[in-house]
Amino acid sequence: MRFSFIPAVLTLVSTVAAQTITDVWQTTWDKAQLLSNPGGNTVTFGAPGDIGSADIVVNDTSTQQTMAGFGSSLTDSSAQLFAGLKSQNEGNYWKLLDYLFNTTNGANSAGFSYVRVPLGASDFSANVYSFDNSGGPSLGSTITELLSTFNFEAAPSDLLSTLQDIMSVNSDVRLHVLPWSPPAWMKDSNSMNGGSLNDQYTDAMASYLLKSLQGFKNAGLPVYAMSIQNEPMNSDGTYPTCNMPVETEAAIGKSLRSLMDSNGFNDTKLIGFEHNWSNAGDYPVQLMQQAGDAFDGVSFHCYEGDVSNQEQFTSQFPDKEVYFTECSGTLGSDWWTDIKWYMDNLFIGGPQYGSSSGLMWNLALDSNGGPKLPGTDSCGGAGCRGVVQINDDGSWDVNQEFYALGQAAKAVIPVDPNGPYAQRVDSSVGGDSGWALLVSAYATGRATAGDQTRYSLVVTNWNDGSDSGWNPQSVNATIEFRGKQATYTFPVGVTTLSWYADGN
Ligand SMILES: *[C@@H]1O[C@H](CO)[C@@H](O)[C@H](O)[C@H]1NC(C)=O
Ligand SMILES: *[C@@H]1O[C@H](CO)[C@@H](O)[C@H](O)[C@H]1NC(C)=O
Ligand SMILES: *[C@@H]1O[C@H](CO)[C@@H](O)[C@H](O)[C@H]1NC(C)=O
Ligand SMILES: *[C@@H]1O[C@H](CO)[C@@H](O)[C@H](O)[C@H]1NC(C)=O
Ligand SMILES: *[C@@H]1O[C@H](CO)[C@@H](O)[C@H](O)[C@H]1NC(C)=O
Repeated sequence: MRFSFIPAVLTLVSTVAAQTITDVWQTTWDKAQLLSNPGGNTVTFGAPGDIGSADIVVNDTSTQQTMAGFGSSLTDSSAQLFAGLKSQNEGNYWKLLDYLFNTTNGANSAGFSYVRVPLGASDFSANVYSFDNSGGPSLGSTITELLSTFNFEAAPSDLLSTLQDIMSVNSDVRLHVLPWSPPAWMKDSNSMNGGSLNDQYTDAMASYLLKSLQGFKNAGLPVYAMSIQNEPMNSDGTYPTCNMPVETEAAIGKSLRSLMDSNGFNDTKLIGFEHNWSNAGDYPVQLMQQAGDAFDGVSFHCYEGDVSNQEQFTSQFPDKEVYFTECSGTLGSDWWTDIKWYMDNLFIGGPQYGSSSGLMWNLALDSNGGPKLPGTDSCGGAGCRGVVQINDDGSWDVNQEFYALGQAAKAVIPVDPNGPYAQRVDSSVGGDSGWALLVSAYATGRATAGDQTRYSLVVTNWNDGSDSGWNPQSVNATIEFRGKQATYTFPVGVTTLSWYADGN
């Protein structure tokens, strides 16, 4: 008798669950909530009534890009700090990795799933090096001879061991690798700092990048995406950079794509550009015109221009992927002002303009924004802030970048281990106070057909009255989903909420 009741009970539970907001993660301007569940907020969808002062409409039949996730760059400096923490206080180290990278649905973690890794030195390395520090070729060398001195062991052991530890927490983490410069001997400057690639080394550079992929694979680190050159329009002479015209990146891209396809890396994405929004309508567009078949898409940085510039690319290449891969916090800036800007431009605004990812620059730095490459003018002024600050005494603190990224990541990580990532769906906001809310909406499918889809909203209420003193106002909102309505009061801050319903 008892058993025959169970199916009826399960049916009832799943019907209710289909209409109830179950998961809430919140970060408020006053830090009353810090990527935590405010409680008392179970929300049920019911028959529609009057709209709230803001009205969020989710259109789950209009689906957009699939998300790759949120995260940051593991520079050599970050890896050095992580390794130092591990040797000083191993318990704190693993707690930090779990708090950053555990993508288990519901875990007390930011759920980072995307890590960008420099190949060779960047402005956040202890010294300048590449994977081929040889003095250069003798006349008439073949590519094989040229690269016979390729040495993956030049990668700091801290970098590889930290990546392996991250993978032990999140085996599905997406690694995106790219150099800040070709080896010095390939360049007209004969230095990794500044200058350009000599044209005769286009194919050698493609082979160098293939060997880098093989190095990662042999170290047990599968690579999700590769780019050819960080910031190809930057040739700062105080750290590894390389001015790389579109034609050169296009030529390397064609050569590399074919090497990747014939060497077991056909599933690794090739991403172009990696520079400012302000050039979205020129360099990346020309790159796709010259070598579109070789590239899966392009990536952007925040240092000049505006996120809406991404449309100059997506309007011409709607089938190419867009990644947002770099922006840095500045030491001393205001916590909540930064979070508002990050949500508006990078982690809600970015996906609305086509980004599949959202990343900050250094994953970890010390309290002074270091250690930097000796002599670099990069991150001058107040200095760059890491997503995490690792302290001399073996403790750590997370910064505003952590909360902004985590609030976005929670909406896109898989529901099931190794299940699919979210797809963005359309949403709009109306009502008298609609202007106060920034919203992105997602649908996350399941590993098992028939299991319910998770629907999520990332909502920023930025109505803090900061234009005229200070007067933070909660917004009583309604949420419209498939003809049903729920109500939710959004405090000033960022709220990520999810519910389950049958998929489309
Ligand atoms: C929802 O999106 C679909 C597909 O783009 C569109 O046909 C439909 O009109 C949209 N519905 C509303 C209410 O905007
Ligand atoms: C991730 O979080 C889940 C849920 O809290 C927990 O069971 C699991 O042990 C965590 N994984 C790691 C590697 O810490
Ligand atoms: C890569 O190759 C494998 C094995 O040949 C194939 O199953 C897979 O579909 C290919 N992937 C792409 C993106 O072409
Ligand atoms: C873009 O970004 C870099 C930061 O890497 C900055 O130094 C540079 O001035 C910007 N360049 C342009 C042309 O927008
Ligand atoms: C929002 O709704 C609550 C009750 O749910 C009410 O107490 C409050 O006054 C409302 N606030 C506004 C700004 O309408």
